Amino acid sequence: MTVPLVTANGAAIPAIGFGTFRMPKVEVQKVVPEAITTGFRHIDTAQFYDNEDAVGQAIINSGVARKDIFLTTKIRPDRFANDVFVASLHQSLKDLKTDYVDLLLLHWPVFSDAPLEAQIATLNAMRAAGLVRHIGVSNYTVDLMRKAMAFSDAPIITNQIEFHPYLKQDIVYAEARKLGLSLTGYFAMANGQVHEDEVLKTIAAKTGKTVAQVVLRWVIQHEGVAVLSKTATVSRVRENFDIFDFELSAADMAAISALARTGARMAKPEAYAPQWAND
Ligand SMILES: NC(=O)c1ccc[n+]([C@@H]2O[C@H](COP(=O)([O-])OP(=O)(O)OC[C@H]3O[C@@H](n4cnc5c(N)ncnc54)[C@H](OP(=O)(O)O)[C@@H]3O)[C@@H](O)[C@H]2O)c1
Repeated sequence: MTVPLVTANGAAIPAIGFGTFRMPKVEVQKVVPEAITTGFRHIDTAQFYDNEDAVGQAIINSGVARKDIFLTTKIRPDRFANDVFVASLHQSLKDLKTDYVDLLLLHWPVFSDAPLEAQIATLNAMRAAGLVRHIGVSNYTVDLMRKAMAFSDAPIITNQIEFHPYLKQDIVYAEARKLGLSLTGYFAMANGQVHEDEVLKTIAAKTGKTVAQVVLRWVIQHEGVAVLSKTATVSRVRENFDIFDFELSAADMAAISALARTGARMAKPEAYAPQWAND
């Protein structure tokens, strides 16, 4: 089946992407071709994950043409200074065995190596040079999204952020809708917490789906939001992909959103994380 697309500022992003965080190279080699065969056409990696070479090889091994995969990587925040940034992107492309990525993200907002305006300028230059089809950011607050958009010549197409039922992201979501960029959600399963949740289990039983599928579906039923899903377990690849044959009712969507609570943010590395308005 063809995956629905999230459109944003001129880009079309497959609504579900396969994540590769905390996935050693041997697992990437085993699971990523399986994910592509299953139907995933959006693959997410990063310089931080230390697996770009395995991801590149797995895409080749899948037999699906490179042009049919939406491939994202992210620049490490300690590589934002212009010449280091450019050299690191060339290395990523070499490792990924491709001459472009579909989406290049600034992984975390940090300003020690280069001011934001300079980071955005380098992103734009990489796009103008044809090394990158689209540009985006990750872990950006409302204020940072606005600044990035204002500094950028080319449209920013996504802000990749933590997105799960326990974390209120309505402020960033509303601003992203206003600015016309998509969100790409990560940690949909809240590091495993969702599976034992009674509300989610009830909705899963009612819809004949698993809790994992309900949560992934809840993310993509937000207009303009794509979801990332990672599993190293081959039997879960199909499960996580099969979220396009059912719909959550408005009442179920609201019941899941009502699970949000304070203190639910999981990704907050001290060196890189911004100050979020609602934490
Ligand atoms: N931009 C950023 O700063 C950032 C931060 C974090 C993540 N990401 C991206 O987002 C992707 C997704 O995040 P994530 O990798 O942390 O986690 P995730 O997709 O939320 O999955 C977390 C864990 O849930 C388990 N799981 C997956 N499917 C399951 C199922 N059907 N039933 C039960 N358990 C299941 C997996 O374990 P098994 O592998 O053992 O199956 C996995 O380790 C990452 O891989 C990465 O590409 C980006």
